[in-house]
Amino acid sequence: MAPLQLARLRKSKVLRDWVSQTNLSLKNIIAPYFVVSGKNIERPIKAMPGIFHLSVDRLLKELEEFKQINAILLFSLPESKNNTASQSYKKDGIIQKAIQAVKKNFPWMIVISDVCLCGYTLHGHCGIIENLKFKDKKVKSQFKIQNYKINEEKTREVLAKIALSHAESGADLVAPSAMVDCQVKVIRQALDKRGFNHTGILAYSAKYASNFYGPFREALNSAPVFDDRKTYQLDFRNSDEALREIECDLTEGADIVMVKPALSYLDIIHQVKEKFKVPIAAYSVSGEYSMIKKFSQNPETEKKLALEILTSIKRAGADFIITYWAKELKEWLKEV
Ligand code: PBG
Repeated sequence: MAPLQLARLRKSKVLRDWVSQTNLSLKNIIAPYFVVSGKNIERPIKAMPGIFHLSVDRLLKELEEFKQINAILLFSLPESKNNTASQSYKKDGIIQKAIQAVKKNFPWMIVISDVCLCGYTLHGHCGIIENLKFKDKKVKSQFKIQNYKINEEKTREVLAKIALSHAESGADLVAPSAMVDCQVKVIRQALDKRGFNHTGILAYSAKYASNFYGPFREALNSAPVFDDRKTYQLDFRNSDEALREIECDLTEGADIVMVKPALSYLDIIHQVKEKFKVPIAAYSVSGEYSMIKKFSQNPETEKKLALEILTSIKRAGADFIITYWAKELKEWLKEV
């Protein structure tokens, strides 16, 4: 037999494109946005060059220019925070208004909303913690808290309220990210009970206690004031746990499951795809984005690195990728 010559199919760009197995497309990219109150606001987020806090009017303007995107994921920065997270489920809250405005102006667009408490609590944790005495973030340096406990029951109640308020505003999918057990079940029941059986759930199922969330927490001012998230987010030494979380969320009614972050967790994405054959979203998080931005120094290098990373996430098995490079991808994919 003639020796194998694998390079034969790499000879020209046309040939390489012809045999390529993984191709990025804007069709299954999800663009995250941070919405704030006010008008005509486009405030750069320092830790994430190229990403902004946008008021609703500016978000609409941005989407007008970015019609090619099919899906967006919304976060909001409330005007004030408290430890009941009551700003999170207000009918006329910032994210609720943003969802309504986007669906009114771009009815076909898939609007996904983040359902969590960390952006709305003073302590920055993703759940309700009772009997906390401090009222202001400034006291954090003197503040030592021990033996605190997230009240899971109360947290689920608030998550259900948030999800309902988003569904009422028109969200296509709600995305619970608090990593509280049974959150998907409680949200699914709450939605169905109120007739929102068509509102889907994109569950942040395998969400790791990662060190790559730093820039995002700066953007939302949501870093925990004391302790960390290791009591509820996954331990990065484990993979079986991720599969169990995914299985749980699917049983509870998740339509799409998520692995987060993406780059250090390609093995998890791959295992989930092999095992469950369900739609998977991977979140290429803020630290992955900012790391490449800072390292690459020039747009051409950034483009090449980003395309390689995003392609690897898809190759691992992700059906959807949430990425802060969404807008750049629009230009990049024209040229590929
Ligand atoms: C929390 C949440 C986090 C992100 C999205 N939703 C991080 C956290 O646990 O603080 C991170 C996204 C990113 O880093 O881009 N509900």
